[in-house]
Amino acid sequence: MRGIILSGGLATRLRPCTTVTSKQLLPVYNRPMIYYPLNTLIKAGIKEILIIVAPERAGDYLNLLGSGKQFGVKLTYEIQDHPAGLPEAFMIGENFIDDQNVALILGDNIFEDDFTEDIKNFKKGAKIFAKQVPDPERSGVVQFDAKMKAIKIVEKPKEKISDYAITGLYLYDHRVIEAAKGLKPSPRGELEIVDLHNWYLSKGELEVGFVKGEWIDAGTFDSLLKAQILAKERLQDKLII
Ligand code: TTP
Repeated sequence: MRGIILSGGLATRLRPCTTVTSKQLLPVYNRPMIYYPLNTLIKAGIKEILIIVAPERAGDYLNLLGSGKQFGVKLTYEIQDHPAGLPEAFMIGENFIDDQNVALILGDNIFEDDFTEDIKNFKKGAKIFAKQVPDPERSGVVQFDAKMKAIKIVEKPKEKISDYAITGLYLYDHRVIEAAKGLKPSPRGELEIVDLHNWYLSKGELEVGFVKGEWIDAGTFDSLLKAQILAKERLQDKLII
């Protein structure tokens, strides 16, 4: 399993704190934000990790994280020229993924759970992770039937379809590259990750796991503050880097 951390984007919601730096380099208690998704991947046993960054911030990431040797992993870097959507990670990472499976994690997503077993047991298809939250409309949302089988996935639904948000860790087999290449931009002009989930769902190859511990998308001032408190109170003894 290869790992990708998607750490570009504009972070407009955190301006002016992100005017001259990247969101994922902001402190979350005692570490830069990207350390948390990096911990999630390294703890789960992933040794080769691609970090995708915006061009103007590439030097900062390289200075901060370097080769990855100090963490016992190999880090490589690619540039995303414009934030054209999450599935672009698979075009940018095509050579890196090669014919392997891949775990994509968003650089601003902070998880308490340990995903070692999910990643070790993943063979084929796609696996996403849902969490019941009070504000699912901030993310992609998954609807289940009575047997808790996923039946529908919608990005930021206007009408409530369920309270299960799709979190920012996704496992795919290498066909995700071809699936991503076939996507068309949505009305908001971005490639949408829910379209990849639906691609696998339509083939009956999408599995949905559940996040048991805390999960925070630290993209707003309020969620960033929550992430700081979570990091201080609950995550310190779970971090390995
Ligand atoms: P978002 O939080 O949706 O976007 P953003 O970080 O640009 O923030 P804002 O909405 O405040 O402008 O992105 C989720 C994560 O994915 C975040 O870590 C940035 C990353 N991302 C990319 O690296 N490239 C992209 O094309 C997009 C859409 C997001």
